[in-house]
Amino acid sequence: MTNGQKFRLGVLGSGKGSNFAAIAGACASGKIPAEVALVVSDAESAGILSLARDRKIPAKFIPPGKFRTKLEEEAERAFVSALQEAKVDLIVLAGFMRVLKGDFLRAFEGRIVNIHPSLLPSFPGLEAWKQALNHGVKVTGCTVHFVDAGVDSGAIIGQQTVPVLDNDTPESLIQRIHTAEHELYPKCVAAIARGEISVAGRTVIWKKP
Ligand code: GRF
Repeated sequence: MTNGQKFRLGVLGSGKGSNFAAIAGACASGKIPAEVALVVSDAESAGILSLARDRKIPAKFIPPGKFRTKLEEEAERAFVSALQEAKVDLIVLAGFMRVLKGDFLRAFEGRIVNIHPSLLPSFPGLEAWKQALNHGVKVTGCTVHFVDAGVDSGAIIGQQTVPVLDNDTPESLIQRIHTAEHELYPKCVAAIARGEISVAGRTVIWKKP
């Protein structure tokens, strides 16, 4: 954290931004002792950008380049510079649909978190709630984790369970998971902002429950 300043979040998202909204709301109400300094998206029309602008939070579209699942080098440099200029302490991925690579990870080592809609390590990757439904599990949920070079593979910060009901459709299940996400993500980000989280290898320790 910059001296005497509020803890600063940089949020990256490609979609509608409901997790961003939950986190921005928790910052505004003081539940997270931090402020969202910048929102960046790789999709010009992403809902997350309009939600940020509605809240008068700086919001930026940066074209991702020619690849579908990662940032082109020049785009990656632009993302890193924008986030460094905004002096962010933590990068919060909230539905950001690209895998972050070496230079980005090195620039913010140990300071990037993500939320995934399953109980990792089950069902990494795309449409995790459909994977859970197809597999027939009775319980799924969401996971907040640190980001490393793999896909949904970093050290786990927190998890919240969600029951899978017999009559669930992908839509009803993801809706229940979203509700859990909007509780879990602000809790985890608040604990990090308060300095209550430490990491020993793959184990993340909460100094206070
Ligand atoms: C969430 O389900 C999150 O788990 C996944 O992407 C989705 C983002 O939704 N990584 P939103 O844009 O926050 O509404």
